[in-house]
Amino acid sequence: MKRIYMDNGATTKVAPEVAKVMKKYFSDSYGNSSSLHKLGRDANKKIEEARKIIADSINAEPNEIIFTSGGTESNNLTLKGIAFANEKGSHIIVTKVEHDCVLNSAKWLEKQGYKITYLNVDTDGFVNEKDLEKSINEKTILVSIIHGNNEVGTIQNLEKLGKICRKRNVLFHTDACQSYTKTEIDVKKQNLDLVTLNSHKIHGPKGVGALFIRKGINITPWQHGGGHEFNLRSGTLNVPGIIGFSEAVKIANKKDIEHMIKLREKIIEGVFDKISDVKLNGSKKERLCNNINFTFFGIEGEGIVGYLDEKGICASTGSACSSNSLEPSHVLQAIGFERKDCNSSLRLTLSRYNTEKEVDYLLKVLPEIIEKLRRFTPYKNV
Ligand SMILES: Cc1ncc(COP(=O)(O)O)c(C=O)c1O
Repeated sequence: MKRIYMDNGATTKVAPEVAKVMKKYFSDSYGNSSSLHKLGRDANKKIEEARKIIADSINAEPNEIIFTSGGTESNNLTLKGIAFANEKGSHIIVTKVEHDCVLNSAKWLEKQGYKITYLNVDTDGFVNEKDLEKSINEKTILVSIIHGNNEVGTIQNLEKLGKICRKRNVLFHTDACQSYTKTEIDVKKQNLDLVTLNSHKIHGPKGVGALFIRKGINITPWQHGGGHEFNLRSGTLNVPGIIGFSEAVKIANKKDIEHMIKLREKIIEGVFDKISDVKLNGSKKERLCNNINFTFFGIEGEGIVGYLDEKGICASTGSACSSNSLEPSHVLQAIGFERKDCNSSLRLTLSRYNTEKEVDYLLKVLPEIIEKLRRFTPYKNV
């Protein structure tokens, strides 16, 4: 059975163009980018080209980008590295809708004695600017707010939130793993001091990411060794991975974004047309081009995902990293869902490779699945 992949928020297919450029750096140009000989110099040259491509894509300078193993590492380094480097204070602000790697880093810092504020969001998932302003105090060193939400797709207004942080002299970080190349990131315009990026959500390889750190910011490394990446992240660089990452950035384009928006809207309209008692979660307007998150009241999201899988469609109930957890989604709870409705969600996340034909098929099978599950489940409380 041909698989239809609609779980691109979890990870994406490596683009053939990306795989092609990476291949050479496994088998021919396999030098360590720190080595002085020809193979090392060749690898280093490509790494610096990749650094520039990524820096340019967010209006940063190449020496403000360090390569990491992905979003989790970049987010851990940001929270812990800024906390340890800062003598000014011990208070950090995050939101209740962050990815687990931010939330769990914050919880760990709490155990070390730092004070953390977990900001509420509204029913669309937006941070209120006044709430942010009120939460900042003289001890605040960092504000970390996710850009495009990995579950419900809401895109925060970084420019406005960043302006508040700048005015109050507090560092501003965003986790842009889901939004990178899908909507604008401009570190100057959006007043950003640190930005987390990763590769495997944009048709690059897994295990690679980057962190933008504005020049002059004091951050304490927690991985010590040979002093790679401006002494901030020691360890031999993942040369093929980094080159693949930059190729993925190169091939991302506006036409793909428009294509995903078209398919996203077709799915939303089709579902509302054919299925009752459904809610679209997250903002309708400020939304990731590839994200759709529905609640089908009265039934289990896991059942829907299971039946879709049987029909050849890969989807998820929410974030991939918490899909093994029985805890209801912290994001859905934060946007106001009661616990009993938190397990009724379906997340469909698209990519440049999805087609209208695939959407037509989804819109044929999904209503049948929902109807079947509602027949099995005593359907109350809607
Ligand atoms: C918003 C967000 N942040 C961080 C991560 C973690 O990134 P990685 O898988 O590269 O460690 C993810 C991936 O699921 C994500 O969606």
